[in-house]
Amino acid sequence: MKIWQKSGTINEQIEAFTIGKDAHLDLMLAPYDIEGTIAHITMLQKVGLLTESELNQLLPELKNLHQAAINGELKIDDGVEDIHSQIEFLLTQKLGEVGKKIHSGRSRNDQVILDIKLFTRAKIKEVVAQVKSLFDQLIELSEQHKNALIPGYTHMQIAMPSSFGLWFGAYAESLIDDLTQLQAAYKITNRNPLGSAAGYGSSFPLDRELTTRLLGFDTMNNNVVYAQMTRGKTEKVVSQALASIATTMARLSMDVCMYMNQNFGFLSFPDHLTTGSSIMPHKKNPDVFELVRAKCNKIKALPNEIDHILGNLPSGYHRDLQLIKENYLPIFDELNECLAITQVMFDEVKIKEDILENPIYNYLFSVEVVNEKVLEGRSFREAYKEVGKMIEEGTFQPRKELNHTSKGTLGNLNNGYLVEMMEKVMQSFK
Ligand code: ARG
Repeated sequence: MKIWQKSGTINEQIEAFTIGKDAHLDLMLAPYDIEGTIAHITMLQKVGLLTESELNQLLPELKNLHQAAINGELKIDDGVEDIHSQIEFLLTQKLGEVGKKIHSGRSRNDQVILDIKLFTRAKIKEVVAQVKSLFDQLIELSEQHKNALIPGYTHMQIAMPSSFGLWFGAYAESLIDDLTQLQAAYKITNRNPLGSAAGYGSSFPLDRELTTRLLGFDTMNNNVVYAQMTRGKTEKVVSQALASIATTMARLSMDVCMYMNQNFGFLSFPDHLTTGSSIMPHKKNPDVFELVRAKCNKIKALPNEIDHILGNLPSGYHRDLQLIKENYLPIFDELNECLAITQVMFDEVKIKEDILENPIYNYLFSVEVVNEKVLEGRSFREAYKEVGKMIEEGTFQPRKELNHTSKGTLGNLNNGYLVEMMEKVMQSFK
């Protein structure tokens, strides 16, 4: 029996098709659904829609269900549509008529947006912690290998000297910007849609400020029509920020795969972290980074998918929105897994020293030689021509002492600056 069912039965095929994967997916929302209900009924009592004794019957049972949800012991019974219905059924089963009172002034439409927002808030915090942990490791590696030079490339052609210090630090800094974007998405998420009901509010005197405080939201989604429009929009904005982290990670993975290639040979991992081939006995493959690359590229597709589902949907609730949960809810754990496994790999990364001793990299130093002439008083253009001529004639001699002193360069990574920036971003999530 559905909570909305009045009489008769519905076609089984229709039922299965419309419920889709909710019986399984909604379990991820279960603890948040119950937290939302606790806040809602606390408010209902304050505005006189529940008695104190009714509230006191409901609260302990909701707390039991909350614990069961956290322990993964809740399930959605056959024939029950979603987690929202399941909780109401369980309460009614246990407490009788009072269980049916929790839904006054609420619709599953505002309920599910609320669940998604509470879930998102908690999951963003997990992602932030995981990103911070990788950031710390990258900064440490950057400091540790600040003197290990590598070629810098433009157009995939050797260009100028770089270093592992710069390389690791670059990805650390990229994560700061990604978290800055995630912070904006967090702010957008952290507004209360509850009280918008089916999308047009309620004639009950609901205290929306109270549920906002109880659930720890920054503000309300004030306009009830807009509150309903945040379904899908929230997921899109958040997944765009997750896609930025994924972009950083996919790019990092690509660099690692390339640097592990024998033609580069810049870095390696011990055998127990690489995989072999069933036919070629010599293989040590970078499967982990290939999978991180692919998983992150998949994550990058999510905002696009959501955008297509939202398409030109008019305002108001539409069942289409249900499908966003399928790829959205699991995305946080998938990204976290990529962040964590990268750290496992980097714990044992081996860096090749003296890469630039190889004469194939001599031309990396051409700008150094030009700059030296400039310091001696020549104009840059003239010095550039002179060195170009030496290269053409085969008489160029590299000048390998590097003197980069400005901030954020080879000789002055200025990583402390990044640590401070990251600290500020972290504070903004508190
Ligand atoms: N499973 C539904 C969803 O995710 C819950 C909301 C149902 N609302 C409705 N009006 N049918 O959208």
